[in-house]
Amino acid sequence: MEKGGCKKCHKKTEKLKINVPIIWVIGGPGSGKGTQCDKIVAKYGFHHISSGDLIRAEVNKKETTPGNTALVSIMGAGQLVSTDYVIDLIRKEINRTISTAKGYLIDGYPRQRDQGILFEKEIASVSMILFFDASTEVLTQRILARGKNSGRVDDNEDTLKSRIATYVNLKDDIIDEYRDKIKIINADGAPDQIFKEVQLYIDTLII
Ligand code: AP5
Repeated sequence: MEKGGCKKCHKKTEKLKINVPIIWVIGGPGSGKGTQCDKIVAKYGFHHISSGDLIRAEVNKKETTPGNTALVSIMGAGQLVSTDYVIDLIRKEINRTISTAKGYLIDGYPRQRDQGILFEKEIASVSMILFFDASTEVLTQRILARGKNSGRVDDNEDTLKSRIATYVNLKDDIIDEYRDKIKIINADGAPDQIFKEVQLYIDTLII
């Protein structure tokens, strides 16, 4: 069996045997990743794993610790949490659901090219990448509208600028690395219109 591992701790990890489609769902903040994942789950019954939700759940379930305070501060600054931390959360969630999942939607991962490479080395190969491409104006308007009620530490104007900058700086490397598997979808339109295109791509994986 192929082995991967954590460069810093030299820990070896076995790749998982996953016989269902694995889809990475990426795009800027407010591009509609979560919204489209909800629709995919409803139609195809895939298991939705959101990296941001996993991190927020960890922060919320534990007492205030230096580690949690650091996570809140990183997210509040619109920067990226450590890749080792995020991939461990994703791996645990896949392991928990591996016997029943019909497919996986990995939402918000990879954020950068190296995250993708690590996932394929340590977990499994990706089947397809859905990249939701919305303009900065649309991203801003959606997140600031949601921020009125979301309570999220990062849904404010200052953090949003940093989230968008992080996304813009790293997205082209991902597109270049995965040209053969990436489906770039214009995400400026209405959710149902976008989902029509999404279905065309997902149907090619399951028919
Ligand atoms: P994360 O929670 O993943 O946030 P994000 O990527 O910034 O994106 P959002 O979840 O806010 O938006 P979305 O694209 O899912 O859009 P949604 O459907 O919700 O990450 C947060 C932080 O966690 C990161 O900044 C980082 O610090 C950390 N993190 C996460 N993953 C990481 C990783 N891999 N590595 C390191 N750190 C990581 O929609 C947004 C709003 O728009 C909603 O109100 C929705 O109703 C509306 N909307 C959606 N689609 C449409 C549409 N088509 N038309 C009109 N409105 C729409």
